Amino acid sequence: MQNVVIRPMMPDDADAKAYVHWKSCLETYTGLMDPEFLAGSTLNKYHAIALRFVDTTLVAELDGQIVGFGCWEPGGAISALYVLRDAQGYGIGRKLLDAMLTRLSNHEQIWLEVLEGNDRAIGFYKHMGFRLDGTSYLTRFSAVHPVLRMVRAV
Ligand SMILES: CC(C)(COP(=O)(O)OP(=O)(O)OC[C@H]1O[C@@H](n2cnc3c(N)ncnc32)[C@H](O)[C@@H]1OP(=O)(O)O)[C@@H](O)C(=O)NCCC(=O)NCCS
Repeated sequence: MQNVVIRPMMPDDADAKAYVHWKSCLETYTGLMDPEFLAGSTLNKYHAIALRFVDTTLVAELDGQIVGFGCWEPGGAISALYVLRDAQGYGIGRKLLDAMLTRLSNHEQIWLEVLEGNDRAIGFYKHMGFRLDGTSYLTRFSAVHPVLRMVRAV
């Protein structure tokens, strides 16, 4: 795929980043997450989240349009990685993940959470060297499917 740019998020990207987050969550979690939680996850809420994590977010642009993003926690976690469905399968998720792992290279181990049943993401993370560590827990947004923890060495 041509013209993919991975770059730090800027405050002006908040609208576009929020849209990708909102749309990708609907694409990914419909049927997996509590429908009430999903229905309450409005674009406004994602906009507020976008502004809160500007400094630890990378965006992926395809032909100048934001189509994906990734967020990390300086403590050693990948906290979000989303690529719009139409842009999946072209190496954008790998590029975002690699760029975040570079920023976390001072850690021995990186962890993340993924929803049970999100098989595409679990397969992707396994392909990228993560493994399920056996930890799982229910959260307010995942009353049906637990969240699974995955880890990998940097
Ligand atoms: C998971 C996600 C980020 C992957 O991004 P992507 O751009 O589709 O993935 P890429 O095209 O970069 O794939 C990178 C590599 O992983 C492999 N891969 C992707 N999905 C895979 C799967 N389910 N099983 C095995 N390998 C997989 C690709 O073949 C590719 O391999 P290669 O680079 O060695 O040739 C993307 O599908 C997505 O945003 N999904 C919806 C949101 C989501 O679930 N996010 C995770 C929340 S925890």
